[in-house]
Amino acid sequence: MQKTIEFINEKITKKPTIGLVLGSGLGSMAEEINGVRIPYKDIPDFPTSTIEGHVGQLVIGELAGKTVVAMQGRCHFYEGYSMQHVTFPVRVMKKLGAENLILTNAAGGINTALDAGDLVLINDHINFMGQNPLVGSNDNDFGVRFPDMTNTYNKELRQIAKKEAEKLGISLKNGVYVACSGPSYETPAEIKMFRMLGGDVVGMSTVPEAIVGNHAGMRILGISCVTNMAAGVLDQPLSHEEVIDTSKKIKKNFEDLIRNIIKSI
Ligand code: HPA
Repeated sequence: MQKTIEFINEKITKKPTIGLVLGSGLGSMAEEINGVRIPYKDIPDFPTSTIEGHVGQLVIGELAGKTVVAMQGRCHFYEGYSMQHVTFPVRVMKKLGAENLILTNAAGGINTALDAGDLVLINDHINFMGQNPLVGSNDNDFGVRFPDMTNTYNKELRQIAKKEAEKLGISLKNGVYVACSGPSYETPAEIKMFRMLGGDVVGMSTVPEAIVGNHAGMRILGISCVTNMAAGVLDQPLSHEEVIDTSKKIKKNFEDLIRNIIKSI
């Protein structure tokens, strides 16, 4: 960690206050950032993303009047990384100075009131990944052994997101994010179960980062882009191409919203 922080700090002049993780097909927002770009593969101990739709670089600089540290593409548990590895960048962001963490993702719609193309503000999550990134000895430097998860998705940031969406005339739904390990998509029976359990959207990321960010006392905001309806909702198979296509279509609203949220934080 020390080596990673020193490596990054040598390349930047201003401390970032906001961490931004850009999900599948949503990475182009990082192109707006005026600052330094460091490929993950050049950063000591940083996990590298291998997935189509993920560029794989850390971008640190100015966006909407704030200094941000953005992940243009994230690493997933299904790529074979440990939970600790997947969440390492969140701790790096915290150490660099980020007190706020905006997590974005592409997700499948479980709630049938949702449509592909919707943006959903995450108000809570269900961890169905079967693992917790905080398993192992606790690093007291970051947080307590048994962190409370009651207000993981910060109320104040959610208020800001709602207000900014309203001002832009963008419809922003609300919901519970269910995290599965992937890489196979869920079965229709699993999606039916998640619906009964209170899940609204489903994806393969975000929850490990939210747990580790919350543990470290970061204020977290989560936004899902519904790129497809989840398995079994429509009579059609799911594909990564559909996920990337829809996220490209949502791009403008997504970027306008994130930019304005960052401005008002
Ligand atoms: N399931 C899991 N992850 C996803 C989906 C989905 O339907 N869509 C985008 N990411």
